[in-house]
Amino acid sequence: MDRKFAISLLEKHVTTPHIIKHSYAVEAVMRSLANKLGSQDEEKWAMAGLLHDLDNDTVDWKSDMSLHGPKTIELLKENDFGTEDMYRAILAHNPLNGSRIESDFERALYAADPITGFITAIALVYPDKKLSSVKLKSITKRMKETRFAAGANRQAMKSIEKLGISFNDFAQLSLDAMREISDTLAL
Ligand SMILES: [Fe+2]
Repeated sequence: MDRKFAISLLEKHVTTPHIIKHSYAVEAVMRSLANKLGSQDEEKWAMAGLLHDLDNDTVDWKSDMSLHGPKTIELLKENDFGTEDMYRAILAHNPLNGSRIESDFERALYAADPITGFITAIALVYPDKKLSSVKLKSITKRMKETRFAAGANRQAMKSIEKLGISFNDFAQLSLDAMREISDTLAL
């Protein structure tokens, strides 16, 4: 798993700045989750996070969301990058392509994807718009406000508990992972 090559793929195929930042955020959360769960595949989990939205500019999200995932796998295979379990995790983060979650790896990405956007939305409410202003309590409070960041899939984030991690631990881990790259995220 060559991270430099993965970044070159990301920068080549994704031009939307907030999706690039989101990709780095999901990478950081996936790396931290792999660590927490004692997975041997830390780098693989991280790269799945980094590249899960690689087809962002290729797929028309309005007309054919079922291609979101399969198209990324196509791009990765063309570049001879990735492994089967990584492809499955990337596919399964978008249920609209008909895939189902089976492994812990797939579950981790499914939960890590929405929590990064959710934490970003919470940070942006503060006057300084900084992750350093976000507390675990802000996250748990906002989880209950269903109208806040309504697009953030609460059920997906909560489903992390199936891996034996409490939601609170997951939220704190994600916040910490994102804080470590706050410069990259400009948050
Ligand atoms: Fe995503």
